Amino acid sequence: MSRFTDRSIIVTGAARGIGEAYARALAAEGAKVVVADLNSELGEAVAKDITANGGTAVFAQVDVADPESAKAVADFTVAEFGGIDHLVNNAAIYGDMKLDLLVTVPWDYYKKFMAVNLDGALNMTRAVWRPMKKRGSGSIVNQSSTAAWTYSGFYGLAKAGINSLTQQLARELGNDGIRINAIAPGPTDTEATRSIVPGQFVEQLVSQMALKRLGTVDDMVGACLYLLSDDAAWVTGQILNVDGGQVFRA
Ligand code: NAI
Repeated sequence: MSRFTDRSIIVTGAARGIGEAYARALAAEGAKVVVADLNSELGEAVAKDITANGGTAVFAQVDVADPESAKAVADFTVAEFGGIDHLVNNAAIYGDMKLDLLVTVPWDYYKKFMAVNLDGALNMTRAVWRPMKKRGSGSIVNQSSTAAWTYSGFYGLAKAGINSLTQQLARELGNDGIRINAIAPGPTDTEATRSIVPGQFVEQLVSQMALKRLGTVDDMVGACLYLLSDDAAWVTGQILNVDGGQVFRA
């Protein structure tokens, strides 16, 4: 028996990058995984590959910004796997985000960005908490970022929102036996990071970190699985930095 044997879990943004690593690691520990993403081509491929390697995974297309879409993926998970034990809110606009200032970013883009990167986690949580409550317990991990504590404009604003959302929801859901925590990764080597962060800036970032290297997707997995698992049974409302010592918080 592994920590996640027969547990049913939705991982959003699991078509690639860090979310994909979470989905693969959870399946390797026996979870029944819904690979939920906007990108059906990559998402289908991840679910198929997990299945081909002996795991249990299905793809479901979702737009986390859309409450109906979030509800549909929750209903699908209950129909497919009999309930929902865990959720990872990892989806975000990141790799191809517009680089602009809070004071000049086009308003429509800003609203769409926040709808995905902040409200997406709430939408998904609103869709899953009743099925979790029905099971008597559940746990959720939100994907924050050290960007919440460093200047990064509306991207950082959304992540600071994710941190507060995590704390507020921990109080609202604790009574139903549902825990919710967040991981704040530091700069992590993914295709998205390579496409948005210039190499020179990466060097500068790394030079200021305690551990002088970028994170890898595998560096994130241990913390995510710990927070989701019963090992963290009395841990809720926390934000865990996994960042090579980039940010020190009081
Ligand atoms: P990524 O861009 O590879 O993955 C994001 C995934 O979310 C993609 O598969 C994308 O299709 C999906 N997605 C985007 N909008 C969506 C929507 N509306 N509905 C459903 N799915 C949607 O990014 P990466 O690097 O794997 O990052 C994953 C998460 O980790 C994000 O939340 C990001 O903000 C966060 N993060 C990443 C860091 C890094 O250095 N890579 C550092 C700190 C946090």
